Amino acid sequence: MTDGLGRLDELPRVRLAPDPTPLERLPNIEREIAGPRLYVKRDDTHPLAFGGNKVRQLEFYFGEAREQGADSVLITGAVQSNFCRLCAAFAARLGLECHIQMEDRVPSGDPLYRSSGNVLVERLLGATLHSYPDGEDEAGADARLEEIAAGLRASGRTPYVIHLAPGHPPLGALGYVVGARELAGQLEAMEIRPSAFVVPSGSGATHAGFLFGLRALGIDAPVLGVCVRRAADLQQPRILARCGEIAKLLGVPSPVIAADVQITDEFLAPGYGQLNPATREAIMTGASREALMLDPVYSGKAMAAFLDRARRGAAEETLVFLHTGGTPAIFAYGNVLGEGFGW
Ligand SMILES: Cc1ncc(COP(=O)(O)O)c(C=O)c1O
Repeated sequence: MTDGLGRLDELPRVRLAPDPTPLERLPNIEREIAGPRLYVKRDDTHPLAFGGNKVRQLEFYFGEAREQGADSVLITGAVQSNFCRLCAAFAARLGLECHIQMEDRVPSGDPLYRSSGNVLVERLLGATLHSYPDGEDEAGADARLEEIAAGLRASGRTPYVIHLAPGHPPLGALGYVVGARELAGQLEAMEIRPSAFVVPSGSGATHAGFLFGLRALGIDAPVLGVCVRRAADLQQPRILARCGEIAKLLGVPSPVIAADVQITDEFLAPGYGQLNPATREAIMTGASREALMLDPVYSGKAMAAFLDRARRGAAEETLVFLHTGGTPAIFAYGNVLGEGFGW
């Protein structure tokens, strides 16, 4: 199945995780809700340093880094970024140096937030950690990364920068064009016809790539993006623009129109990286009914939207949830989650 996907299989890619990830049914939640059939695509199970959606995205960034002969990789993100953690994992496996810039994006005075979860894993993986005082300045964060890269170049190194701000080719989104193709194959083999898909929408690389891939392969069921970072009216044009950029990278016309970009920000409050009651309930439901580990920042918020959609759904519908991982963050949010148990 490569129709409509142009150069996808010709672009440089480093593959460290076997595919496909499992597509599983959620029988216990299904029984409890007594509504649609429910499935989960388990991208949280990639066997690389706790896995998650960023594995697929980094395959393409590291493909380009390797092609350029890089010996070091630089990345920026929130303190508890899964992208940064998995970048450090790729770098460790490929023998590259990794520089992580941690942005102050979440108002948290909890020492666990800065020392546990993804930060702990990054230290174990041998990454060098830097900090950046602003969490909403994508261009500034990129500029600071470039300064660190310039320092590395001056000492004879060959750095590769993974940028945050729009304006750079969204190589990571290609990972989810691949993910959509993989899932399309599983749906066909298992004779599943989804009525809708639910995915988290942060930088938008996952949402845009997944939507692009499904549409390019002729699957036209709605894809609901769940805002975890910014409001829906800001995210909608961002996703559409990303789809246009994916089309350019692949050398094909974009199969995505504005009406395809469905977004909810109902589960975002009080903001990025901050827990709300619906997300807490979704994390508890996923874990206690299906042993699914969801995080407070990304997959838990997406699961809150998925459960809401399922509870309003009809018995003849089939819903598919994309589990993007984020597991290590539950330890950094241990005190916050623990409040639910009266700790
Ligand atoms: C676990 C997890 N899920 C979802 C997302 C959102 O993905 P994207 O940035 O591609 O929109 C992220 C982003 O960091 C993530 O770490």
